[in-house]
Amino acid sequence: MELPAFILSAALVSAAVLLAPIAQGQQQYAPPVSEICLGCICEAVSNCNQSLSCTGDVCGVFRITWPYWADAGKPTLAQDRPEDEGAYARCANEPYCAARAVQGYMAKYAQDCNGDSTVDCYDYAALHRLGGYGCRANLDQAFRDKFHNCMVQVSKLNGGQVN
Ligand SMILES: *[C@@H]1O[C@H](CO)[C@@H](O)[C@H](O)[C@H]1NC(C)=O
Repeated sequence: MELPAFILSAALVSAAVLLAPIAQGQQQYAPPVSEICLGCICEAVSNCNQSLSCTGDVCGVFRITWPYWADAGKPTLAQDRPEDEGAYARCANEPYCAARAVQGYMAKYAQDCNGDSTVDCYDYAALHRLGGYGCRANLDQAFRDKFHNCMVQVSKLNGGQVN
């Protein structure tokens, strides 16, 4: 499905607004992944469709698995503890908590997957799709195209810079 650029941009801006408080709420350390980058990862992986819940072994807008969530440090909603039944699904299905899981996962596995001597959003996307031990492999075409298209759109909005 091909969308005009302004519709895609609008979706990304709303994703960025949605996810921005994560960065603002944690001043003591900089989370590795910018909200723009989170927006492009969720676009590529699920079209940022917030009505998605759990299907198969993945949950939420970032399509997070239990092992991914565990590697991320088992972030939870405020009322949950990590060992609570359903804590994983409740976190992965809630965009802010899911984004914290992505941040935790990237903090653990951050690396230069594509060998361009920087660790940036392209590496985080590969880590998200392929995992911490497989991120040098090729991305599937559908993910790569959606992600690339999103990055082109947001770099226009963001003065060319996406971390
Ligand atoms: C979002 O996901 C729901 C549930 O799978 C689906 O019914 C809906 O069509 C999707 N919306 C978009 C815009 O893709």
